[in-house]
Amino acid sequence: MPALIVAGAQWGDEGKGKLVDYLAMQAHAVARYQGGHNAGHTVVINNEKFILHLIPSGILHEGKLCVIGNGVVIDPECLIEEMDALLNRGINIGENLLISENAHLIMPYHMALESASESRMGKKAIGTTGRGIGPAYMDKMARCGIRMSDILNAALFRERLRAALEKTNRLLDVLYGAPAFDLEEVFDKYTGFAERLKKHVGNAGFILNKALREGKNVLIEGAQGTLLDIDHGSYPYVTSSNASAGGACTGLGIGPTMIKGVMGVVKAYTTRVGGGPFPTELEDKQGEYLREKGGEYGATTGRPRRCGWLDIVALDHAVRVNGLSGFALTKLDILDGLDTIKVCTAYRLDGVVTREFPPDASTLERCEPVYEELKGWKESTSGVKKLGDLPANARKYIEWIEDRLGIGADMISTGQRRDELIVNKENFH
Ligand code: IMP
Repeated sequence: MPALIVAGAQWGDEGKGKLVDYLAMQAHAVARYQGGHNAGHTVVINNEKFILHLIPSGILHEGKLCVIGNGVVIDPECLIEEMDALLNRGINIGENLLISENAHLIMPYHMALESASESRMGKKAIGTTGRGIGPAYMDKMARCGIRMSDILNAALFRERLRAALEKTNRLLDVLYGAPAFDLEEVFDKYTGFAERLKKHVGNAGFILNKALREGKNVLIEGAQGTLLDIDHGSYPYVTSSNASAGGACTGLGIGPTMIKGVMGVVKAYTTRVGGGPFPTELEDKQGEYLREKGGEYGATTGRPRRCGWLDIVALDHAVRVNGLSGFALTKLDILDGLDTIKVCTAYRLDGVVTREFPPDASTLERCEPVYEELKGWKESTSGVKKLGDLPANARKYIEWIEDRLGIGADMISTGQRRDELIVNKENFH
């Protein structure tokens, strides 16, 4: 049972890319199970920055099988651009990319629908990444989506596209007064993509299961985070997939008995992009300080991220929802130099103190954080590679989090680079 899931424990952007890059060294395959190119996973190798949106971060290691699972929604144009960008930088994809034939595609009309719907919602907009993710999952669930295998069969594709456009063009016109899409234009564009991608398309679930049965390590890379999960996040301000660990099995076609552990990635403070409640948000100088020092600008959209203190109520929810076996703490160095660090230990909801993360956004909106203050540290943690070399108060901060969450910090990231990492526990051994 050698599969390890790495999932975001907050609102995404926890720094999963770097951890996946490290763990990929010990893995035979790295697989994505949900989301799409709304994700932006940053990995820095020898001062060279790579931002991956769809292809698992494992591609940066030679010879790793990188799987885009059936649960992912794929914009083929973006995927091809990403493949080309990697090739231009000397990363040879070769036979290493496997795309599930069952993965649904993001079509141009999905982006049009999303943009029309978001502008219609005004102040109540979700603040999506504008990539067409939600409408692509809507079509999947409504059983009128177009899958990777469909575009490999011209006759079938034309029929499915005709049916989809009949509905969607009417919707665009009647609901939003937006222009219609031309069948032949979309057909030609996507059959062109199919030509380029077809050698990478296959039965990903079958191949992953075979590897797992042979005892090979499979690393499962989550995108976004638990609090953006369609079922367990701050609904409706969420993404349209199961970003938490539960999505990994259905999104890859493997069984829960194959999962050896679930590592939650926790940023040393909290960030969020887009709309929705955020109890520990700092809308002051302290928030700006974290944003600037932490470089908190979206890897996909460049939007400034909202910043705030660590939220134990939300993290405790993530421990439960994902069944976390351990966590990786990232961006510890961003807290260097602070006199005190606040941590939210409970919420006050309508005058009552609670430690329960509320299941909907309107309740979360009314939650006020109850803070505890911890001592900061003046020394730099940047680039530290051994736990014992961290300042005493930084170690105390980590121990405090471990104690509150009831799980251990398996890894601590102390900088952007691949080697700026403390490894307390090897998860694949
Ligand atoms: P969508 O996934 O584009 O539909 O956006 C829904 C919500 O999820 C918005 O608040 C986005 O900002 C947020 N979101 C989507 N992908 C990411 C990500 O990779 N990191 C952080 N937030 C994300």
